[in-house]
Amino acid sequence: MLFCDKISFRVMSGKKTIIIGNWKMFNNIHQSSTLLARLHQNIDSHRDVEVVIAPGFLALQPLSLEIDGRRIKLAAQNAYFKDEGAFTGEVSFSQLRNLVDYVIIGHSERRIYFEESLDLIRDKVAACVRNGITPILCVGETAEERKYKETKTVLHDQVTTALANLTAEEVAEIVIAYEPVWAITTFGGEIAKPSVVKEELQFIRKQVGDLYGGSTAKKIRIIYGGSVDDNTIGGYLDIEGCDGAIPGSASLNYHKFSKIVQLANKKTIKRK
Ligand code: PGA
Repeated sequence: MLFCDKISFRVMSGKKTIIIGNWKMFNNIHQSSTLLARLHQNIDSHRDVEVVIAPGFLALQPLSLEIDGRRIKLAAQNAYFKDEGAFTGEVSFSQLRNLVDYVIIGHSERRIYFEESLDLIRDKVAACVRNGITPILCVGETAEERKYKETKTVLHDQVTTALANLTAEEVAEIVIAYEPVWAITTFGGEIAKPSVVKEELQFIRKQVGDLYGGSTAKKIRIIYGGSVDDNTIGGYLDIEGCDGAIPGSASLNYHKFSKIVQLANKKTIKRK
């Protein structure tokens, strides 16, 4: 059976809930450093909740010197799949090695604005794993695709292609973020109902199970993103099989982001 009882699923499987703040192209180095300092003041550590922030590239190095890595981890928002070479303007996963724990790959803003293809995203995921960094793979359908009942096909294609070059053991360690494009602030920010999110999270976990086996499907963390804030986080974390969230806009506000983490901490304690 793929799913355990709602209350104990995450704790039983030994997975940490993960909360990832995607800062996008906001904050210069100084502002990033100030925001991190505020988060240090407001975020308590919790054994079963992992907190990750994804600032812009320029801030990664300075923040890596300031960050309390026991409480907050660093992610990059993108990287190029070649390890090195004449690729002007790109940053490789090998350059990010030992600097970040995670890299966000295939975010809808990259798929849509920068025309990132399924194959490119597959190569990025493989490069990420090859360099010892954990991918946060973002998948999700557009409003149009949902309207024409193509959601499952889109998710199937995005998940199966992206994971194609990984072993079951590698897949078990990655994070998949279900982010319906229509629910992301950038593209309209419609609030996704937990019932809709639940169905798609289950569908993604089933795809992983069909391809890599039940134990991989159980271990992999599948999270939700799209207009998550301190008011909506609780409802999403209550969803069976939802292992965390990736707030964007709300992560730029330290009150909201700290509250999101606090709520995740509380829910995790309750589950014990
Ligand atoms: P949002 O962004 O929370 O502002 O919708 C989420 C994301 O784009 O990852």
